[in-house]
Amino acid sequence: MPGKLITFAGIDGAGKSSHLAPVEQWLLERGHQVLVTREPGGSELAEQLRSMVLSTDMDGLTEALLVFAARRDHWRTKISPALTGGCVVVSDRFVDCSFAFQGGGRGVDWQVLEQLEAAVLGGVRPDITLWFDLPVAEAVGRRADRPADRFESEAVAFHARARAGYQRRMERDPHRFVRVDASRPREQVLQAVLEGLEARGL
Ligand SMILES: Nc1ncnc2c1ncn2[C@@H]1O[C@H](COP(=O)(O)OP(=O)(O)O)[C@@H](O)[C@H]1O
Ligand SMILES: [Mg+2]
Repeated sequence: MPGKLITFAGIDGAGKSSHLAPVEQWLLERGHQVLVTREPGGSELAEQLRSMVLSTDMDGLTEALLVFAARRDHWRTKISPALTGGCVVVSDRFVDCSFAFQGGGRGVDWQVLEQLEAAVLGGVRPDITLWFDLPVAEAVGRRADRPADRFESEAVAFHARARAGYQRRMERDPHRFVRVDASRPREQVLQAVLEGLEARGL
């Protein structure tokens, strides 16, 4: 496809959402058409599923099925057409987050997640995944002043397993990941992000 898919990964509080606007700005200045989106969500149906997943108690497999259902709709109605039209799509979270949170965090079978990934996306993977990585305790401290959703109210151990899930995904597919040390000051994190994008042809 003519466009490129850039995804942001990392545990809650890592700094993903605060880097969306500066990355969008940088891409626009370089002449790209840009679509900024998020998961779970990004389409009307997927946003409805997001509300359920963030607010309603359910078991890990149910949660995985719902986030992959949301992803399917988001992919089919928004991301895929934008890539076909030549856009750079920037998604705040994408498929790796399911492996981190439902896989690592909730303990859903990794192979089941891989089967869902294959059914929903075929062989498509992001072109670049920026992994905002920092220790769990620092991430918890950064989101101390915002209301916690179902994931953010999980224990430190849950987020540590999620972090390990990202590591496992990166080891399987190292060429598409840019791991950014997100514990540094904001300007340094942004600089590392932009250098990572530039090194990969953006
Ligand atoms: N490099 C940084 N240093 C200090 N605080 C940061 C940094 N990056 C982001 N933050 C702050 O940490 C909090 C969580 O960032 P956010 O972008 O919402 O993370 P995420 O989307 O990954 O959950 C926000 O209050 C944000 O302003
Ligand atoms: Mg966020």
